[in-house]
Amino acid sequence: MEQITDYLCRYKNYNFPIGLITAEYIDSLQSFEIRDNDIFLVTYPKSGTIWTQQIIISICELDGGLNEYPNNSEQMPWLEYPEGRDYYLRPSPRLFTSHLTPTLLPLGLKDKKAKIIYVMRNPKDIIVSYYHFSAVIKDLETPKSFEHFFEDYMTGNVNSSSWFDHIREWHSKKDQYNILFLTYEDMSLDLKTAVTKICTFLGKNLSEAAIEQVVEKSTFKTMKKDSKANYKFLPETRLMGDFMRKGKIGDWKNTLTAAQSERVDQLLQERLGDLSLKFNWE
Ligand code: A3P
Repeated sequence: MEQITDYLCRYKNYNFPIGLITAEYIDSLQSFEIRDNDIFLVTYPKSGTIWTQQIIISICELDGGLNEYPNNSEQMPWLEYPEGRDYYLRPSPRLFTSHLTPTLLPLGLKDKKAKIIYVMRNPKDIIVSYYHFSAVIKDLETPKSFEHFFEDYMTGNVNSSSWFDHIREWHSKKDQYNILFLTYEDMSLDLKTAVTKICTFLGKNLSEAAIEQVVEKSTFKTMKKDSKANYKFLPETRLMGDFMRKGKIGDWKNTLTAAQSERVDQLLQERLGDLSLKFNWE
């Protein structure tokens, strides 16, 4: 484990906030025992993680049989941040969240039985969201300026490393997993279709009325008021602002300069151009 800034450490080519994990713990995840009915949500930070958590949790609740926990973070904990919880030992069904790359996740996921939902978002909107979030979350360094944060993001010198590497790794290894790819933009443009897709992938046969309920519980407006879902339950000493900030697509246009936008486009082409991914974010 190598400390790379006052806030970040690097282990196995991946950046973590200092003090939240140990090398031993991350290594132990390789043999973390996966159950066939485990559900994993994997994202790069600021891609719509807590939104998709709310959708998956609401689907599983309405399907019946979900154990109760005080909030979405406890219900669907981040695998990489143990925080003293014993969620390995939980009764099924187990729901997990993670920002990790395939190499760091449990090998048992390659049995292709447990399901993974991977959500992507326009990297330009992520930069803006991540910049604001870094200023209000204690675990991350408050950026000196947007320009400074932009450079760190482009070089992967941020928590969870490079967005471009994350997307590349997950897409190039997708055949090894039972995985559904979704985008924040598709969810924004047609939430009901996204919810239906997730239901189908998870094998949950919800009625039309139940699907409508999931959609209603997962709108920005409803989630912002939902104390189990909006992350206001985190202590103010840790989160001094909002996870639920604007919830818009294309907000980057208010912040990135034309030159910065072009640099992202260029890097997208350089790093991901050969993967023939169809991004729908413009
Ligand atoms: P903004 O900062 O652009 O508003 P994550 O959960 O991965 O950290 O992502 C947070 C981003 O998702 C924030 O983006 C937040 O507002 C947005 N978000 C959370 N819930 C949402 C919802 N129900 N609808 C739309 N966006 C949502």
